[in-house]
Amino acid sequence: MQIHKRPPSSLIFIFGGSGDLNLRKLSPALYNLFLDDWMPKKFDIVGIGRSAYTNEKYRERLLDGIRKFSRRKEEANGEWEKFSQHVSYLQMDAEDADAYSAISDVVKEKETQYGEHPNVIFYLAVAPQLVPDIASKLGPLNICADTKCTRIVVEKPFGHDLESARELNALLSSMFDENQIFRIDHYLGKETVQNILALRFANALFEPIWNRNYIEHVQITASETVGSENRGAFYENSGALRDMVQNHILQLICMIGMEAPVSFEANEIRNKKVDVLNAIRKIKTTEVQDYAVRGQYSEGWMQGAKVPGYRQEKNVDPGSGVETFAAVKFYIDNWRWQDVPFYIRTGKRMNAKSTIVNIQFRPAPNYAFPPEAADTWRPNRLTISIQPEMDIRLRFQAKRPGQNLVLSPVDMVFNYDEAYEEHEPEAYETLLLDVMEGNATLFMRADQVEAAWKIIMPIQEAWQGRQPVDFPNYAPNSWGPEDAEALIARDGFNWITLPQINGD
Ligand code: BG6
Repeated sequence: MQIHKRPPSSLIFIFGGSGDLNLRKLSPALYNLFLDDWMPKKFDIVGIGRSAYTNEKYRERLLDGIRKFSRRKEEANGEWEKFSQHVSYLQMDAEDADAYSAISDVVKEKETQYGEHPNVIFYLAVAPQLVPDIASKLGPLNICADTKCTRIVVEKPFGHDLESARELNALLSSMFDENQIFRIDHYLGKETVQNILALRFANALFEPIWNRNYIEHVQITASETVGSENRGAFYENSGALRDMVQNHILQLICMIGMEAPVSFEANEIRNKKVDVLNAIRKIKTTEVQDYAVRGQYSEGWMQGAKVPGYRQEKNVDPGSGVETFAAVKFYIDNWRWQDVPFYIRTGKRMNAKSTIVNIQFRPAPNYAFPPEAADTWRPNRLTISIQPEMDIRLRFQAKRPGQNLVLSPVDMVFNYDEAYEEHEPEAYETLLLDVMEGNATLFMRADQVEAAWKIIMPIQEAWQGRQPVDFPNYAPNSWGPEDAEALIARDGFNWITLPQINGD
């Protein structure tokens, strides 16, 4: 969250240049930044990959991606000719250390052409196991010693567990300064996620009640309707806990739970988030069953079509014990949140694609009202819809019109589309602009990543140590396994079902 300026000249190398992430996300984002006049006056994008492409063929492939995946598909042709002049392809075997001199050559060539030294950005849009090798081959290049202008962008998953994350951090920090390393968690680039800070800290209304005295519990749901798709091989080594909870969901908890920052300076925001992560209660391995539930989808039906179970997906072990659903109850042990449960759930092949945060306030005393009036009494609730709906709604009680005193809950709604004409940028647009500007506020610092792994590890270890006996345990198009209902019901609550209905 900052006032953006046009970034200085930038030269962006994308490892995995012909890969899915570049096609679906990075190129459309860079092109949208260009259409919105945010790209530097002088810039170049060099896709790096093993396959053979001429520049022309490579550009065609990217344009194809933009036509399919950009938020502005229809404008694909608008400025494409101009933009694509800045795009080229470098065929290179990233495992061959000698090949990296080609990168230095491009930098020199562009320096001469621009008449100045540009930012040099290495975006590692590659499979996680390739990251250490590429980073260690980039490190020795002279340009990487330039701590001001050279940056490396690393996608999640950042490590596979605490130990591998530490190793990766150690490796990267032996070659790059922390301020050169941009660890992406794309949730932080989402407009609605950034707005959580605006909602909390730009309004006088919420902060006084944003604590254990007024908030009963918090719920976060990040559900998806898709299955493992063609990512079976990746997902087999990941699972819902690593794929969604360790990063995206813990980040959402940080945004909801953090103390007010004294500035929006990158390290200040990140310090406040690390405080939340450090305060999250570490679940003992022996107690995991009281705090966490895992699930895996069976075969079944989604919107009238038969879909395979996880174990029948491509590149998945037919006896796989990998979880495609996780629900966890977290506690943040500090003055603000002590004893307020944060329930989170996430899964594939669920009933709806939706990311939503519910802040449930404690019930108001209703003794003064006649019992009939209070029948439909509901506590206040603040619902922050992150996606696909983008709105914030506050539920409160109102008197129904009529001679009788009957109360019923109503919602006060702020909807992005209704309130603003501007279209929100995609997360990757925001994050790429930040990288070019050198602003790391929305990126994960090394200690944040490690703190997040520390929270997840006991659950991971308990689950790995005990193979699930009931998998698959939820049907497609459902809200996950029954045990997830029990997890929250034990505390006297229930998952707030989506989509939101007034008074539900
Ligand atoms: C990614 C996960 O980080 O986030 C995917 O690897 C998941 O498995 C995706 O589908 C969800 O992102 P979004 O923005 O669609 O909620």
